[in-house]
Amino acid sequence: MLKATESKIILGTVQMGINYGINNTTGKITDKDSHSILEYAFDNGIKTLDTAKVYGSAHSVIGEFHKNNPHKKFKVITKFPNIADDNIHVKIDIYLNELNINKLYAILFHSYSNYEENKNNLNSIIKLKKIGKIKYIGVSVYTNEEIEKTILDKNIDIIQMPFNLLDNNNLRGNVIEKAKSKGKIIHSRSALLQGLFFKNINDNTKVVKNLKNEIELINKISLRDKISILKMALGYCLKQKNIDNVIVGVDSLDQLIHNIESENTIITDNTVKSIESILINNPNLLNPSRW
Ligand SMILES: NC(=O)c1ccc[n+]([C@@H]2O[C@H](COP(=O)([O-])OP(=O)(O)OC[C@H]3O[C@@H](n4cnc5c(N)ncnc54)[C@H](OP(=O)(O)O)[C@@H]3O)[C@@H](O)[C@H]2O)c1
Repeated sequence: MLKATESKIILGTVQMGINYGINNTTGKITDKDSHSILEYAFDNGIKTLDTAKVYGSAHSVIGEFHKNNPHKKFKVITKFPNIADDNIHVKIDIYLNELNINKLYAILFHSYSNYEENKNNLNSIIKLKKIGKIKYIGVSVYTNEEIEKTILDKNIDIIQMPFNLLDNNNLRGNVIEKAKSKGKIIHSRSALLQGLFFKNINDNTKVVKNLKNEIELINKISLRDKISILKMALGYCLKQKNIDNVIVGVDSLDQLIHNIESENTIITDNTVKSIESILINNPNLLNPSRW
């Protein structure tokens, strides 16, 4: 039976298009498995996908799913790779065609610098919004400074930012609340930091070594409060009232099933307090592009 209410989770699709992730041993998901994941997600209330032109075959995997399942069309958020020319209309038509949909839920600039470099194309994108080909315009950001600048920008509807057990309210301060009070739609990503929270703390990779103490603290809270790391990580993001949607990626159907099962976990104030006492002195350590 189809789930009636819409999930707060947005399914990430980078794993369907390329080899991705710090903890990934299986590589890119096969197209067949991606279709099973998409079907299970749709039937269980996840109605929005996060994708990007640079996620390898992700657009075509989604497009093929839509072609085979015309009654299970997702709302799709995609991102420009970079915009070196002015053919915005042509590009959007290509994306719609690849994805097999009539309208994009949102088009995002893949980074704040990408947005700044391509502001000259904004008017064309706004025109597409006016004629209904795109519902929202957004930017994928990383730092609080970028969020502050985006808050002041009336052309931007969606801010996508990292948020998780380590990149938590302690690090973000009141910037998310501020963005929400200015009417921005907030999407978080990196809920599981690419699976880093599940890594063995004695792992030899640079990022695990750098964040060993913090991953150890997460393990301790999980043991003390008898809550799995998965439930704690998803529960913490999903309970944030100023975050509209939480993007989560998976490598398998099994992971998606567990994530959906964990969706309604309630985490206690005491657990939240402990999570937010974890302070990261060097936020660059949380940025996967620097790992
Ligand atoms: N700048 C941007 O705009 C940007 C950047 C990055 C990502 N994204 C988007 O965000 C999405 C999510 O990527 P992310 O980096 O934020 O990853 P994430 O959602 O924090 O982590 C996803 C990874 O966690 C692991 N995982 C998921 N469910 C699990 C479960 N139940 N049990 C154990 N492990 C589990 C899997 O990795 P393992 O199995 O390998 O451990 C999975 O690939 C992407 O698909 C993409 O759409 C956007």
